[in-house]
Amino acid sequence: PLQAVIFDLDGVIADTAVVHRAAWEQLAHDIGAPFDEDIAERMKGVDRRGSLEILLERAPHAYSEREKRVLEDRKNGYYVAQIECFGPGQLLRGARRAVESVRTAGLSTALASASRNAPLLLERLGIAGLFDYVVDASQIAHSKPHPEIFLAAAKGLGITPETCLGVEDAAAGVDSILAAGMRAVGVGDATVLSRAEDVLPGIDAFDIQRYLNRQPTDRD
Ligand code: G6P
Ligand code: MG
Repeated sequence: PLQAVIFDLDGVIADTAVVHRAAWEQLAHDIGAPFDEDIAERMKGVDRRGSLEILLERAPHAYSEREKRVLEDRKNGYYVAQIECFGPGQLLRGARRAVESVRTAGLSTALASASRNAPLLLERLGIAGLFDYVVDASQIAHSKPHPEIFLAAAKGLGITPETCLGVEDAAAGVDSILAAGMRAVGVGDATVLSRAEDVLPGIDAFDIQRYLNRQPTDRD
């Protein structure tokens, strides 16, 4: 039976996927690298260095390790400048209710974010206390789509992956959940997230009863 739901943060709970995207787009502009939908979609859920490598695939020239660190810092500066003034108003509609509904149903909750800014963001949003366990990028070695982050969340909760459901807005995130041996629910574009057992238009449509009452292999 289902024992826990593990939520991604950016684009599932917090309205920050657009902020990350805008910061990368600004950096792309700074260095004269192309930026499009495909690049933006591939960057979703991927850690800072992984995202930079995607951006640099089509950059006009190669960058040294030291230069890459400067670029990462610049992008993070753009991002942090935006979230500095964030508060509970930047929670996505229905996000708090979704997490609370899992707790009310008697299940555990965890957060699995590839962002090093996750602790700061959780404080700003005022929801740090809603999660039984939090894993962010600073605690893991491999970025999504590697399963490490979701496995670490299950371990932190003291349960097995088979009893967990993961919620993600990124294809890399859904792949990470599935590679961990968990059930996956997508939030966003059904084409991009087709490997999830269910894709919701937004977190406000999340209904825990739906997953308590059905087997992982059931499809609509
Ligand atoms: C999340 C976002 C990504 C972002 C990554 C790293 O997974 O979905 O877009 O690149 O976190 O965030 P950070 O705050 O550590 O640069
Ligand atoms: Mg996300």
